[in-house]
Amino acid sequence: MIQKLIKILQDIKEYFLSYFSTDLGIDLGTATTLVYVKGQGVVLCEPSVVAIEKGTNRVVAVGDEAKKMLGRTPGSIVAIRPMKDGVISDFEVTEAMLKYFIKKVHPRKFFIHPSVVIAIPSGITEVERRAVIDSAIHAGARDVFLIEEPKAAAIGVGLPVHEPGGNMIIDIGGGTTEFAVISLGGIVYAKSIRVAGDEMDTAVMEYLRKTYNLMIGERTSEEIKIRIGSGYPLEEELTMDVRGRDLIAGLPKTISITSVEIREALADTVQAIVDAAKSTLEHTPPELAADLIDRGIVMAGGGSLLRGIDKRIAEETGLPVHVAEDPNTAVVRGTGETVNMPARLRKRLMAQAKLDF
Ligand SMILES: Nc1ncnc2c1ncn2[C@@H]1O[C@H](COP(=O)(O)OP(=O)(O)OP(=O)(O)O)[C@@H](O)[C@H]1O
Ligand SMILES: [Mg+2]
Repeated sequence: MIQKLIKILQDIKEYFLSYFSTDLGIDLGTATTLVYVKGQGVVLCEPSVVAIEKGTNRVVAVGDEAKKMLGRTPGSIVAIRPMKDGVISDFEVTEAMLKYFIKKVHPRKFFIHPSVVIAIPSGITEVERRAVIDSAIHAGARDVFLIEEPKAAAIGVGLPVHEPGGNMIIDIGGGTTEFAVISLGGIVYAKSIRVAGDEMDTAVMEYLRKTYNLMIGERTSEEIKIRIGSGYPLEEELTMDVRGRDLIAGLPKTISITSVEIREALADTVQAIVDAAKSTLEHTPPELAADLIDRGIVMAGGGSLLRGIDKRIAEETGLPVHVAEDPNTAVVRGTGETVNMPARLRKRLMAQAKLDF
C-alpha cells in the first residue's frame, strides 16, 4: 500500500518535472527553422515558409508542404517567407509558424508552455529582439531566452568557447552572414551582414535575366546555386540546363549554363563575405588574432556549403578554414547545448547576450 503511494507520488513528481523541463532550442532561420527538444536532439528541420489564404489569412500549410507551393500557388493562396534578412518581417505569420512547429514537436502536450532558447542574428535591433520574444510568447512559450547565432554556432560545433583563446566562426545563412570572435564564453567582436544565401539566389536570377533574357523563380535560382555555384575555380567546371520563361517571346525556354558563369554572377556576394571576414580580423585583439593562426576559422550555416567558399576565405585571410560537420544544424545544436546547461551557466551566456547590444 505504502509502496503504491510512493509510486504515485513519484509519478506526480515526474509529471511536474517534465512539465517544467520541456525545453526547446529554436533556430528561427530565414531559410530554415530547426527545433531541438531536450533529451531528444534535433527533431524538426523545415523551411521557414507559410502558405496562407488571401483575404481570410487562414494558414493553409507550413514548412515543407508550404515550400512546395512557393511560386506555384493558385491565386487565392500565397506562400510567404515571414523572416527576411534574418529577422521577422511578418509578425503574425511568424507567430503562426512558430505555433505550428512548437505544436508539432509537442503533439500531446501542446497546452504545456515550454521554455525556449532562440538563436538570433548578432546585429538585430532592440525592436527586432522584442518581436522575436513576443512571437514566441504568443506562440505558447512560457519564457524566452535569446542567444546570438554565432555564439550558438560556436557551441554547436564544439569550439572551446569557455576557454581563454580566440575562436572565429562564420555562419552563412539565408538572410545574414554572421562573423564572430569568441573567447571565454563571450563575443569579443561580432559582425552581421545582410548578405547571404538569398542574396546569392537573387544574383543568379539577375544574371540570367540580364544575360539571357530568362526569367526564373526563387526555387530554380537556389537549385542552380546549389548544383553548380562556387566561390573558387573548380577542378572540373560544371554545366546545367536551366528552364525558365523567355522575357521577350514570353514562352518557356531551356538554356545551358556553366559554373564559370555562375561564379561570376556570385562574385559580388562572395566578395562581400570575404571583405567582412577580413574586417572582423582587423577588429580582433592581437593576442586572439594570433590564436587564430593555429585554430583557424570554422564555417557553419547552409551557405558554407557553397563550393570553394572555404578555399577562397582561406586564400584571402591566410588562415586555415574548416567547414563544420553538418553546418546546417550547428546553431540549433548550440541552442540545444544551452538548454542542457545548468541554469547558472545558461544565464551567464544569455546575460552576456544582452551586453553585446
Ligand atoms: N550545398 C549548398 N550550396 C550553397 N548554398 C547552400 C547549400 N545548401 C544550402 N545552401 C543555402 O544555405 C542557405 C540556408 O542556410 P541556413 O539554413 O543556415 O540559413 P538560415 O539559418 O535559415 O538563415 P539565417 O541564419 O540567415 O536566418 C540557403 O540560402 C540555401 O540556399
Ligand atoms: Mg542561421
